[in-house]
Amino acid sequence: MVQAIKIQKFGGAEELQLVDIQLPKLQANEVLVKNLSIGLNYIDVYHRTGLYPIPLPSGIGLEACGLVEEIGSGVTLFKVGDRVAHSSMPIGSYSEKQVFPQEKLVMVPEGISNEVASVVMLKGITAEYLLHRSYPAKKGDKILFHAAAGGVGQILCQWANAIGCTVIGTVGSKEKEAIAKKNGCHHVINYTDHNFVEEVEKIVGKNGIDVVYDGVGASTFEGSIEVLKIRGMMVAFGNASGYVKTLDIKKHINTKGLFFTRPSIAHYTVTRKELEDSAATVFNALLTGKFKVDIFKKYKLSDAKQAHQDLEARLLTGPSVIIP
Ligand SMILES: NC(=O)c1ccc[n+]([C@@H]2O[C@H](COP(=O)([O-])OP(=O)(O)OC[C@H]3O[C@@H](n4cnc5c(N)ncnc54)[C@H](OP(=O)(O)O)[C@@H]3O)[C@@H](O)[C@H]2O)c1
Repeated sequence: MVQAIKIQKFGGAEELQLVDIQLPKLQANEVLVKNLSIGLNYIDVYHRTGLYPIPLPSGIGLEACGLVEEIGSGVTLFKVGDRVAHSSMPIGSYSEKQVFPQEKLVMVPEGISNEVASVVMLKGITAEYLLHRSYPAKKGDKILFHAAAGGVGQILCQWANAIGCTVIGTVGSKEKEAIAKKNGCHHVINYTDHNFVEEVEKIVGKNGIDVVYDGVGASTFEGSIEVLKIRGMMVAFGNASGYVKTLDIKKHINTKGLFFTRPSIAHYTVTRKELEDSAATVFNALLTGKFKVDIFKKYKLSDAKQAHQDLEARLLTGPSVIIP
């Protein structure tokens, strides 16, 4: 038996229960991983509330770094003792141990700590595909990133700065303004007490943004469309403030001939090669200083409820982990 967080039904943070679970019997292609550090992500909240419905009862969590403890008879990619990380299904990283098909795991290189590895698999790979593949950002591009002091935000904004983009970030509090500045933003707008459209226009003029990366959703969507240039790119990749339910092609797209995508990490790690290449790009960017990661807060497995309450209260100003 191992300790893990489970939910029986969708709901508030109180649904996260620490329980003893029996792990499934290891199949030929599977690897048993002992988690050393677990990444906290906003998508964990969507799974818990049912915004992204999952079969119940369920574990929670999609990102971790750990040690290979046992391998199935057909496993060729890993051996016992390897340090690995993952960012994908099956859901259930909030656990002391987890069983994975071998093709979902990658090796963690020397020089990257367990904690950092556990926050760059989902957040870092997301930053990689957003910045290099959903819209390949280039030197001189003017980009707008919402919630720039958040987990994905800190990584992407530093990386975009290293590419040579002009990075404008929005944040929800005074305290986060300095954090976003420290993490790659050339300009920071507090969108709780300023109209971010007006502020962006002061910086780059009307219709001046090449690409908006919008993980906030409902509360920022209309303004994001408004600041984009003619033929700009809208990358809507999350819903921290609520889901954008309708897209009006005439109003949102046709007026400026915009490009629109609503990607998820799963669309950009479809094959083993895509996963390996993306993870290698992220690890390499970390090791060569394109971005760095400071872990903001560490929780115990038994503190998962508090961790979700802090996430939803917008109190996490950086990548945070659960140490089982
Ligand atoms: N599509 C994908 O592949 C993919 C992958 C990873 C993450 N994501 C998305 O990317 C976004 C960032 O993820 P993350 O894990 O790094 O989270 P995060 O940015 O650390 O946390 C979410 C942030 O959203 C902002 N926010 C704005 N309105 C909010 C509201 N009403 N309630 C709560 N937060 C609000 C808050 O920052 P401020 O206080 O500064 O506003 C909050 O800190 C999320 O939407 C997530 O779902 C998408």
